[in-house]
Amino acid sequence: MLTELLGATRARTLALAAPLTDEDAQLQSMPDASPAKWHLAHTTWFFETLVLAPHLPGYRVFDARWPQLFNSYYESLGPRHARPQRGLLSRPSLAEVKAYRAHVDAALADLLPSAPPPALSRVELGCHHEQQHQELLLTDILHAFSCNPLLPAYQPTRPTTVAAPEQAWLRHVGGIVEVGHAGPGFAFDNEGPRHAVLLTPFEVSNRLVTCGEYADFIASGGYREPLLWLSDGWATVQAQGWQRPLYWQPDGSVFGLHGVQPLDPNAPVMQLSFYEACAFAEWAGARLPTEFEWEAAASLQGFEQASDQAWQWTRSGYAPYPGYRPAAGAVGEYNGKFMVGQQVLRGGSLATPPGHSRPSYRNFFPPAARWQFSGLRLAR
Ligand SMILES: [Fe+2]
Repeated sequence: MLTELLGATRARTLALAAPLTDEDAQLQSMPDASPAKWHLAHTTWFFETLVLAPHLPGYRVFDARWPQLFNSYYESLGPRHARPQRGLLSRPSLAEVKAYRAHVDAALADLLPSAPPPALSRVELGCHHEQQHQELLLTDILHAFSCNPLLPAYQPTRPTTVAAPEQAWLRHVGGIVEVGHAGPGFAFDNEGPRHAVLLTPFEVSNRLVTCGEYADFIASGGYREPLLWLSDGWATVQAQGWQRPLYWQPDGSVFGLHGVQPLDPNAPVMQLSFYEACAFAEWAGARLPTEFEWEAAASLQGFEQASDQAWQWTRSGYAPYPGYRPAAGAVGEYNGKFMVGQQVLRGGSLATPPGHSRPSYRNFFPPAARWQFSGLRLAR
């Protein structure tokens, strides 16, 4: 089972990078985004450093100079090349990084048949970590392509258009509900401990806000009306000159994985910051759900577009659950130290690997981030 997950995950990352040229894979368009080549190498470094080095006797590190290039943020694992300068790493080449992947895959295949339980749980974590980077690989290359006046298409086929579900409000009676991962199966440490929260009765939309609805917000002057915005949001609108979602073009078309396409009024709006999501909700006479309202509502009959379209900003700051303690050692740096200054997003997106997310899943980004597949669902 784990062997299949590992094989499928490693193969899928390569498949996602397959449409890219070597030059594409080298691009870093902003400090928050990483080159595709770096994602291919970093996910491999994770297995090498946290699985093979401690658990496979006699494992030979592929290149002892590389860990400093491909360690992302693990202070306990040594010095690191600065994140904003990942695009300067023309060496190693993409071909050398692919050889690194093959070397680590072969060593993992040697380890798995006799791996002790702690190694197996690290392999599982490595697979889910790599799946997170699969989505980032797509969002990061899309941002890089958006900076090219040619607006290249990652996937040069026509997208399928689907009618938006008729909007309806779903009612939740509130009360004391349990939230957090209940098991069985894998979850990240930030999804627990499972605990009780008190919800007052609320309603949540059955579907995501559409591009058509968001276009109405823009047309009515939403980006020029300070009273709709949080203070930090309005300051950001002014400073950045925001007038529309990140990939909406001045001529009304929308850039995405399929290149430039006509705006589809039925499609969920995405590439929105938390600030824009809040301003839209204010304009619509509603609000964003909290992350616990979202989780409780996700099991309501009629709750659509839960995890296959766009991540959904919530009104909840990213904080530890009661009783949460990061794990000892390097893996403890995975989630806990990022629990400040970020908002939780729930659900999943069209770029999320199938089976990766779940109702208790907590994604998180700073409130001004808008290069992810991030949209919103209204609550009131
Ligand atoms: Fe990572």
